[in-house]
Amino acid sequence: MTDLKKIISHAKEYGFVFPSSEIYEGLNAVYDYAQNGVLLKNNIRDYWWKAMIQLNKNIIGIDASILMHPTTWKASGHVDAFNDPLIDNKDSKKRYRADVLIEDYCAKIESKIEKEITKASKRFGADFDKSEFIKTNKRVLDYRLKINLILNRLGKSLEKEDLKDVKLLINELGIVCPISGSKNWTEVKQFNLMFGTKLGASSESANELFLRPETAQGIFVNFLNVQKTGRMKIPFGIAQTGKAFRNEIVARQFIFRMREFEQMEMQFFVTPGQQKFWYKKWKESRLKWHLSLGMGEENYRFHDHEKLAHYADLASDIEFKFPFGFKELEGIHSRTDFDLKNHEKFSGKKLQYFDPDKKENYVPYVIETSIGLDRMFLAVFSWSLHSEKLDDGSERIVLKIPEILAPIKVAILPLIKKDGLPEYAEKIFEDLKLNYNVIYDEKDAIGRRYRRQDAQGTPFCITVDHESLIDNCVTLRYRDSMKQERVETKKIIEILGSKLNYKSWLNKI
Ligand code: GAP
Repeated sequence: MTDLKKIISHAKEYGFVFPSSEIYEGLNAVYDYAQNGVLLKNNIRDYWWKAMIQLNKNIIGIDASILMHPTTWKASGHVDAFNDPLIDNKDSKKRYRADVLIEDYCAKIESKIEKEITKASKRFGADFDKSEFIKTNKRVLDYRLKINLILNRLGKSLEKEDLKDVKLLINELGIVCPISGSKNWTEVKQFNLMFGTKLGASSESANELFLRPETAQGIFVNFLNVQKTGRMKIPFGIAQTGKAFRNEIVARQFIFRMREFEQMEMQFFVTPGQQKFWYKKWKESRLKWHLSLGMGEENYRFHDHEKLAHYADLASDIEFKFPFGFKELEGIHSRTDFDLKNHEKFSGKKLQYFDPDKKENYVPYVIETSIGLDRMFLAVFSWSLHSEKLDDGSERIVLKIPEILAPIKVAILPLIKKDGLPEYAEKIFEDLKLNYNVIYDEKDAIGRRYRRQDAQGTPFCITVDHESLIDNCVTLRYRDSMKQERVETKKIIEILGSKLNYKSWLNKI
């Protein structure tokens, strides 16, 4: 996989992602989506929305506000529990997440394991049995044990909010500041991740608001409104996409961890006692959604949580193999009745479902699926970016974005700018633009134009040449294979339709 630096520079060079307010040196961990980026982002959101709302007759969508009544965040637990443990280095004056420092330490041990495996595989050649080696090699086992001991202790200390022990662990492991190289650390403190703001001009504290740190609460507070007006019967889901804000201490790895980002969340309301069944179902269903895009089964794995968020009784991440290793892409959480019960308590309003079959009221349990749109963007973008050596020795940079997500679906290219070719090509453009985002390009030699479209991820190019005016055929070029075929102009809509229609993609879910 292409490394992150190349991904970032490609995203900028080809109009996908720019640093925010770059003329002022940018704003840390805030990014803008450019002309191609916004199309890719919209397409990912559409693909999610269609899979959730169009394909499930018991899921409906809403669009709640970013600003919510401040008590929402008391009830949800975010005011008291949405914290990260932070630590400062007194010499570099740099701030870190204490748990991330420890996890990075473990990642270094993990890379030692990888080195042992690579060494052994070179030594034993074809006879090398990797899984046997991992199970039996003393050094690998010692490293693994060390990692487990550290992470277990960290998990327990964080759960008990024992920040002194987190600091002790950093000291015992001899972790140094990556900038100053010193061990001159402050105590570990909790840091709330919510961004505060104020409503109107009043200075009263009652008007202090938060920018939502997750979209989910907009769904919970609307639960009964939606259920009643939509006449929904449990089990049913409410989905939405929208911005969320977190004042992340360590924001890094490009758009992987941002301070302003977008989530695509769905809360599925179920009868208490059925949560395990639905949790399993949604884990399977969400993985299928990812796999339908064809980005390689080997690039996904589940990570079931031992340390649970304050609201969950079961939780798992779908991890994706990013350029910096397997990391969380989506979370599936069994949130119990925590949120609805707390909103009942804090608002004094009943948030109960009347079950017409059982003839009783109850607070439903909730299974949540929550994926970061920007993180999904990074998954798609990093997986798609390839540098290929061609037969003639030249290099081709190509973005093999799954066709259904590609920002521009078709480029229409007259071979030259005269002899009636542009007019013929324009006609195709006018026809296709009713179905897809298409682009018309007549600048530069055809080879350069193909390269430009490859680098932007356009899956199909249509070239109009002099023959086209005589035989009413054009050349259709495929981005991934670079294969070209001559097709009748009137058949283009049909050919593209078979490759770009949602039906054939969503059918895999
Ligand atoms: N409502 C549950 C919730 O918010 P989460 O695990 O904190 O759970 C869900 O976030 C997803 O949102 C993550 O899996 C990730 O894809 C995305 N996400 C979270 N924080 C993010 C950040 N700072 N930048 C980009 N994406 C983020």
